Amino acid sequence: MELYTPEALISEEEIALRIAALGAAITKDFEDEEIVVICVLKGAFMFCSDLIKKINRPLSLDFISLSSYGDSTHSSGNVKLDMDITANIEGKNVVIVEDIVDSGLTIKTLMEILSVRKPKTIKLASLLFKPTKLQHKVTIDYLGFEIEDKFVIGYGLDYAGRYRELPYIGILNAGN
Ligand code: IMP
Ligand code: MG
Repeated sequence: MELYTPEALISEEEIALRIAALGAAITKDFEDEEIVVICVLKGAFMFCSDLIKKINRPLSLDFISLSSYGDSTHSSGNVKLDMDITANIEGKNVVIVEDIVDSGLTIKTLMEILSVRKPKTIKLASLLFKPTKLQHKVTIDYLGFEIEDKFVIGYGLDYAGRYRELPYIGILNAGN
């Protein structure tokens, strides 16, 4: 079987450097405070696992799963809650860890779901942000990289369930 190596947009080294800076920023912002990190599955799993290693604060980890895309490269306009967190976040400092903010619909929906549970604070860490498609007001407190409007894969991000294992962020090639 022929190996497919997508063109790199952001290298492993660049990702690691940026994540170290984000971890340091979160560490500084939550001095003496406990954090509940909520990893948005599946896309953010790799980013989240590297990010929490750089947060030098007591934290607990939970997972939530939302889907909006189906198997296409365009948002369906619907967000479905596939799996909820198990933690009680009332009065807690929540940091959501997401792979990418595109239209902003997923994060807007997630913020609505979580904010009614009365956390003390909610912050958002997103590895990537595509500003050209943004349709909802979203504040990214800890942003990895702003990117142009290309469909990206790797480092947790998929196309139809594939390419999550790539250690870098690549651009999906139309022919592949
Ligand atoms: P939004 O709801 O339009 O902001 O879309 C966010 C979700 O769509 C992300 O959590 C990703 O799962 C997916 N997504 C958006 N753009 C890309 C991309 O370029 N590559 C892979 N997944 C993407
Ligand atoms: Mg996602």
